[in-house]
Amino acid sequence: MSYTVRKFDAVIVGAGGAGLRAAIQLSEAGLKTAVLSKVFPTRSHTVAAQGGVAASLGNSEEDHWHWHMYDTVKGSDWLGDQDAIEFMCRKANEVVVELEHYGMPFDRLDNGKIYQRPFGGHMSNFGEKPVRRSCAAADRTGHAMLHAMYQRNVKANTQFFVEWQALDLIRDEEGDVQGVTAMDMETGDVVAFHARATLFATGGAGRIFHSSTNAFINTGDGLGMAARAGIPLEDMEFWQFHPTGVAGAGVLITEGVRGEGGILRNSAGERFMERYAPNAKDLASRDVVSRAMVTEINEGRGCGHNKDYVLLDITHLDPGTIMKRLPGIREIGLQFAGVDCIKEPLPVVPTCHYQMGGIPTNYHGQVVVHDQVINGFYAAGECACASVHGANRLGTNSLLDLLVFGKSAGETAVADLQQGRAHKPLHTASIDKTLARLDRLNTQKGGANVHEARLAMQRTMQKHAGVFRFDNLLKEGVAEILKVSEDVARTEIKDKSQVFNTARVEALELDNLIEVATATMISAEARKESRGAHVRDDAHDTAETPNGRDDKNWLKHTLWYREGNRLEYKPVQMKPLSVETIELKKRAY
Ligand code: FUM
Repeated sequence: MSYTVRKFDAVIVGAGGAGLRAAIQLSEAGLKTAVLSKVFPTRSHTVAAQGGVAASLGNSEEDHWHWHMYDTVKGSDWLGDQDAIEFMCRKANEVVVELEHYGMPFDRLDNGKIYQRPFGGHMSNFGEKPVRRSCAAADRTGHAMLHAMYQRNVKANTQFFVEWQALDLIRDEEGDVQGVTAMDMETGDVVAFHARATLFATGGAGRIFHSSTNAFINTGDGLGMAARAGIPLEDMEFWQFHPTGVAGAGVLITEGVRGEGGILRNSAGERFMERYAPNAKDLASRDVVSRAMVTEINEGRGCGHNKDYVLLDITHLDPGTIMKRLPGIREIGLQFAGVDCIKEPLPVVPTCHYQMGGIPTNYHGQVVVHDQVINGFYAAGECACASVHGANRLGTNSLLDLLVFGKSAGETAVADLQQGRAHKPLHTASIDKTLARLDRLNTQKGGANVHEARLAMQRTMQKHAGVFRFDNLLKEGVAEILKVSEDVARTEIKDKSQVFNTARVEALELDNLIEVATATMISAEARKESRGAHVRDDAHDTAETPNGRDDKNWLKHTLWYREGNRLEYKPVQMKPLSVETIELKKRAY
């Protein structure tokens, strides 16, 4: 199999929010920048973000970045790095105003300022009461954001490669990154993108689970490529289950619904969140709300024939408000649940939504392994772990993360390139490995079926690494996922043609998904405490271990290495940039 070489200053993989924001930085600095994407940029998964982007603009009531920082540290169950969190919360107003200047059509208050709504876990005055911090464009914030940033990139001459599947990092013997190999999905042609800077913004991998709010394209491609190139994945045991996926369909119902006054009810019509989070109620942090919902269902207070969902009620809201602020939700209810939410409550269940872990980076967007910067390699957005979300992300901090760290990764890359980093001679041995992987797919006979192996992986993840985790299920899960990964290593595709071969693309995506699933299961089995979204039934609430969180032994980040499924750990950065450390305490809402 042959390949051609194309040279760029920078190659970005992924054209969602983080990739587009980084590309603006690079292209506007006059650098020749390629962006590779499996789909047309405005169809990237950021399009599905509904409820808003967090920034303490204080347009409706008093707010402060320090309060936002406190909420984010608390939301992360103290696993987030406090330097990165301070950086993100302080930058929030700047990146939102920039976006406004790019033409983002935010909703407006009567005085013309950006409209803001409350969201789970965002509070005023260090946890006192919910605050309006989410800057929203109705319930289509991500959609509006992608369009604004895509247009800005077109103006800046960013070069887009649409319907390209990235294959592998090109990493030389010194460990420096020189670009990526990628396949044109239309023709099957392989190109080595030889670059002075390589930036991953490949999004999440929510498709490792059977029930997910994630698009089918969310297959952890960046994580798979990084893992195969010897880079560890950080904190992969932490997965967020969004409280409100449409029951049976998984489609996201924004937390903005509860921000606008929506209430969760069980089969008795009870507003059960009052029992679990007396202060924040339905606007508690996502992990807290999801666990409360599963507990209601497990204890027999679920709704419907099988008592397997709860209800999200907005029938008490003014229909005019629903049509103005939540028009997309009404459509989703009608399409996916057959319910008109103006008249009837929506059936909802917690659904896999977001990975808190990812490729380890610092807050400058550089990929860093144990304090060692990987030359030429940057990452931002959901595929990266800065780490600002720790063990649990707050809603609307994802759009903020991709703006802040997309920009800072782009800025850092620009600075590195302007200091004169040159193209190193192309490391062809690294490319040969990728070609061998493609050749294997073309010649494999009698191997496993891609669809069956993917389903086995998704069912294993759903059963063994869900909202509540159990020691025996995790142990069995490790054995099962390792077995599935053996099947994935010998998948067979019947259709060997080059042109628009979606079977080949699905097999390549599965190569990435299985790395993420394996990292998740192994990291989760090893962490013997409850923290944020990782909750084990054998971790008990005591004075030394509040809510089962064991700071003495487990206040540390996990690093999973593909080779030998090895785990290492590194300390959490408890020291912010300019303010006092937010000290550990029991988390309650
Ligand atoms: O609920 C939502 O609108 C999702 C937002 C987020 O995940 O940040």
